[in-house]
Amino acid sequence: MRRVERYDLVSPMMPCKDEILAGVDRILSTGAYILGEEVRALEQEMATACEAADSVGVASGSAALYLALQLAGVGPGVEVITTPYTFVATIEAVIRLGGTPVLVDISLDDLNLQAEHVADAVTDRTRVILPVHIFGVPCDMDALQTIADTHGLDVIEDMCQAFGSLYKGRSCGSFGRMSCLSFYPTKNLPGIGDGGLVVCRDNEDAELIRKLRGHESVRINGVLRSGWNSRIDEIQAMAIRVRLARFPDEQADRDRAAAIYDETIPAANRFSGYAPGGGLRVTHHQYWIRVPERGRLEETLRKVGVAYGVYYDPPLHHDPLAEYCRVHGDLTNAETASAEVMTLPIYQALPVDDARRIGELVRKHLDGCGA
Ligand SMILES: Cc1ncc(COP(=O)(O)O)c(C=O)c1O
Repeated sequence: MRRVERYDLVSPMMPCKDEILAGVDRILSTGAYILGEEVRALEQEMATACEAADSVGVASGSAALYLALQLAGVGPGVEVITTPYTFVATIEAVIRLGGTPVLVDISLDDLNLQAEHVADAVTDRTRVILPVHIFGVPCDMDALQTIADTHGLDVIEDMCQAFGSLYKGRSCGSFGRMSCLSFYPTKNLPGIGDGGLVVCRDNEDAELIRKLRGHESVRINGVLRSGWNSRIDEIQAMAIRVRLARFPDEQADRDRAAAIYDETIPAANRFSGYAPGGGLRVTHHQYWIRVPERGRLEETLRKVGVAYGVYYDPPLHHDPLAEYCRVHGDLTNAETASAEVMTLPIYQALPVDDARRIGELVRKHLDGCGA
């Protein structure tokens, strides 16, 4: 079997290369290198794509999280309920603001925050629920919004892995007061460097995020909060817009590979969706499976030259930053996910027969485990 890489960032870039180079040429001669027309156009296109009032381009997904949480009033003594099964950036933003991430268990069906644990973790210090649509699978937004409404909390979506995913026919990013996106090059809507976006349900929030990203201070709940440089540049915005125009085609390629894995891997070992016809779309930022004896499958894949991913091992309640978190209840499902989940290659240029062979190796492993 030929070697299969974990990502292919170059092939999908090639059809865009001439357009991006022409864009660079154009921007170089304008002299407007930061926060110009390209950024504003990206913000408008992304607001439309995410079914939101407006959006604000920023330096990274981490910066988006920091600014959105800052505007929601996160600071010392404030709790933010989130998942232990995510990239560390999710909790870093809370901790850098002086707030406390409260980690609650996930569901093994979708690896996302489980609403009943969220409800149980609310205290009079809670200000925000911060769901992460992990690997592009939407969280149960209705259940989380009900909890938020009951307690007067904000929902802020970490949609860094979920651009293009739909929950009940609505775009991820359109549910929270604000939603945070990353354009890191491995994401399914990638830039050619770092970049991020805060998607806003209200225009007023968008205007305040615009101030904070550009060194203007803002009074939030009576407290003056400092701005900082969190700007995005024109070349980055232009390159992201070029990829945005091609997003449906790139998504169709990812869907093709996912369908092959779906055919070969038993439903019990992968995300198999919520109720049929429920308006769900998963963009497969990563295609994840849950397998017993993961180490043995890792060895098999390594031997045949197939790269894979192992996430998030250890989960965040075992990260050194857990010192700054409150762990609510026992996080058994997060432990299981950390021990058993792995991701398979799902990039646009993955040959169909490679996807089939990888799926069959996984199925053989599962048969061998009696799973
Ligand atoms: C779930 C999640 N949150 C936050 C981030 C941070 O995004 P960035 O790397 O653009 O700062 C990422 C991306 O790596 C992510 O996957």
